[in-house]
Amino acid sequence: MMKDGDMELITEIAKFEASVDMEKEYRIGWSWRHVRIWPATLSRLFKDGFLDNVFRSNSFTGYRLTEKAKAIIIANRDEGSTEPKSASQVNLGDDLFTDIIGHEDVKALLKAILLSEKPVHVMLTGPPALAKTLFLWDIEQTFGEQAIWLVGSATSKAGLWDLVAEREPKILLIDEMDKMNAVDMAALLTMMEGGRLVRAKRGRELDINNPLKVIAASNRLEKLSPELRSRFAIRRLNPYSRSEFLTVVRGVLVRKEGLSNEMAEEVARKLDGRSQDVRDAIRIARLAPQVGVDQAISLLLGGETGANSD
Ligand SMILES: Nc1ncnc2c1ncn2[C@@H]1O[C@H](COP(=O)(O)OP(=O)(O)OP(=O)(O)O)[C@@H](O)[C@H]1O
Ligand SMILES: [Mg+2]
Repeated sequence: MMKDGDMELITEIAKFEASVDMEKEYRIGWSWRHVRIWPATLSRLFKDGFLDNVFRSNSFTGYRLTEKAKAIIIANRDEGSTEPKSASQVNLGDDLFTDIIGHEDVKALLKAILLSEKPVHVMLTGPPALAKTLFLWDIEQTFGEQAIWLVGSATSKAGLWDLVAEREPKILLIDEMDKMNAVDMAALLTMMEGGRLVRAKRGRELDINNPLKVIAASNRLEKLSPELRSRFAIRRLNPYSRSEFLTVVRGVLVRKEGLSNEMAEEVARKLDGRSQDVRDAIRIARLAPQVGVDQAISLLLGGETGANSD
């Protein structure tokens, strides 16, 4: 059984394998970065028997095509039907951020950063309910063990430095960055430049060959020190326009809150001009099945719906 698009993926991988010396250069396999396919997608192809996992460490998972996959490619080539996409436009991260509506430029930035060899750190900032946390969450889902998720206000007792030295993540996801304590903040400054901290304890140096990418979110920039801000590309998410807000609300209510298209549409329409907060829409969606949309809006937001009294 093959999923849609898998044929293209394994064909691209076969091209890659044909273009390099698998016995010499890639004895331990290639990684997602070489083939430009997301780790989550590769691990699915592995589960489906198209890839062998020839090597695995904390920082590197090496794959190669299985005989089964090669046989399928040859069979497919003989049919001569499908025309595979060009190598440069492999579906780069088709599985990533699919639950986030809009924000196309932020998605593109984050994907570029995730693919880059050397680290670029980024901080998402802006008003509440713009999917900042959702971006971090999606990255964590895709990168699994390679990513560590932290909320600034609740970093571990062991401290950030020890956590990173021990788990050697590739990506550090920090939500509510402005709430991080001073000690962790100081550690972070050093880590972001790939430096070593002088420590009494041995075995707590960070591996410089495993550079860390930091992806953070914060409502408030003013609370962050200038040297910390300087280490990040600061990407501001602007509030949704009215039409973006309607699209986001409809999408979130149908996909995540399980509302019918009609009811989601009704909530979105009736909220238009009254709120720009997606969380308002979610609250309304949760009460609407019991009391109806109008009543939910008036209970939660107060006052009469719609009418502009003066
Ligand atoms: N563009 C979007 N696509 C999908 N869901 C969205 C989008 N924008 C907001 N949401 C939804 O709105 C809610 C709030 O999103 P999220 O928690 O990511 O916001 P945030 O930017 O981190 O806010 P805060 O600054 O308050 O932490 C979530 O339920 C999320 O699913
Ligand atoms: Mg958040």
